[in-house]
Amino acid sequence: MNINMDHYWLPFTPNRYFRSHPKIVVSAKGAYYQTADGRSLFDSLSGLWCSPIGHGHPKIVEAFQRQAATMDFAPPFQVCNPVTFALSEQVTAMAPPGLSQVFFVNSGSEAVDTALKIAIAYHRVRGQGTRTRMIGRERAYHGVGFGGISVGGMVANRKAYSSLMLPGVDHLRHPWDPGAMAFSKGQPVWGSHLADDLERLVALHDASNIAAVIVEPVQGSTGVLVPPQGYLQKLRDTCTRHGILLIFDEVITGFGRTGANFGAQRFGVQPDMITFAKAVTNGTIPLGGVLVSQAIYDTTTSIEAPPHAPELLHGYTYSGHPMAAAVGLATLGILREEGLIERAAALAPVLESAVHALRDEPGVVDIRNIGLAAAVDLEPVPGKPGLRAFRVFEYGFAHSHLYRASGDTISIAPPFISSEGEIAGIAEGLREAIRAVRAMPDAA
Ligand SMILES: Cc1ncc(COP(=O)(O)O)c(C=O)c1O
Repeated sequence: MNINMDHYWLPFTPNRYFRSHPKIVVSAKGAYYQTADGRSLFDSLSGLWCSPIGHGHPKIVEAFQRQAATMDFAPPFQVCNPVTFALSEQVTAMAPPGLSQVFFVNSGSEAVDTALKIAIAYHRVRGQGTRTRMIGRERAYHGVGFGGISVGGMVANRKAYSSLMLPGVDHLRHPWDPGAMAFSKGQPVWGSHLADDLERLVALHDASNIAAVIVEPVQGSTGVLVPPQGYLQKLRDTCTRHGILLIFDEVITGFGRTGANFGAQRFGVQPDMITFAKAVTNGTIPLGGVLVSQAIYDTTTSIEAPPHAPELLHGYTYSGHPMAAAVGLATLGILREEGLIERAAALAPVLESAVHALRDEPGVVDIRNIGLAAAVDLEPVPGKPGLRAFRVFEYGFAHSHLYRASGDTISIAPPFISSEGEIAGIAEGLREAIRAVRAMPDAA
């Protein structure tokens, strides 16, 4: 296939290397991609955690086409349309009770920045304008906006912008201790005390200055760090005690990945806001949002302002885009009608035993899993961090599976439509890839 690759700067990609080692996929159906040279690849990460239904579902194609023919766009400020309202109803119906308002955006990054702004606006309106500080967490990924990288804790994404980080941010320590937790299946039993770190930060900054704590219920991008039993509830209790809002960033965990609608329900912990994106449209079209408690909505919109003035000066041209809303409605309908979230929950033990069977492979240093998500940590090639997992990814692409490598971790998040055999195949493909990479001359 003759493609001019000279003009596209790919995101989170080694671009110079890519142009000499291109990896091109040309079509997708169900749980498989087709490569430019005609091979079939199993979609082991549901796109980028976003396509649990698989690709090309006829109902999504139909919804997209119908909406394009009906109304491709309408301005989102001062005007709205029935499809976007319908999606807000569906999304809030899936959310934990009380999170009954939704603010639509276009991506996870925008959802995070929006949630941080809503937290500050809420505290201002209720007369606590000193509450502007945010608490994030080490190893967190909250997208790439300046808000998101400030509360985020992935050093590589932050270090070049150090002086531009939001000033009022501090970080909880990350909740993973390989010494005590390695090879845990599901939620580690040890480690709820790691949430006590929040009390330390409250004592340091004083609660009167802290607006919100933002955490991913499961830290996804950094390699499926599963919260220890009791950890999230402790964060909740501390936030409640000090009047601090708790935001769950569910861009990955939202819409079924943990086997429940949201991680909040899976772990039985109630946040004040939830950010979401990705699976809400099955990845077909960009859409994100922030679920907000009724109390936060009521307070924030009670700001003293003339009736014709917006209460929150925030929004995007494509907030609540009717095309995205139509696809979102179709997606949530399919998840419901085909029982796919229940299916994800039923397949979770299959994934758990498949990935943990890799434990004795040489160079596998940790394996974690929850719901239909798992990660395998590999020993780095000496002096070359990230190279081993990158090679595993390349081996997978050259053979049969599309894996996700970040650092020396391989993440797995199969589509909910996967069969048990396909899930077993992901782990077996990974075993083969790990062995092949270990046999490379510099990589033992
Ligand atoms: C937890 C979390 N928050 C935010 C984001 C950013 O989402 P986006 O890439 O849509 O901006 C991601 C992306 O993976 C994520 O995992």
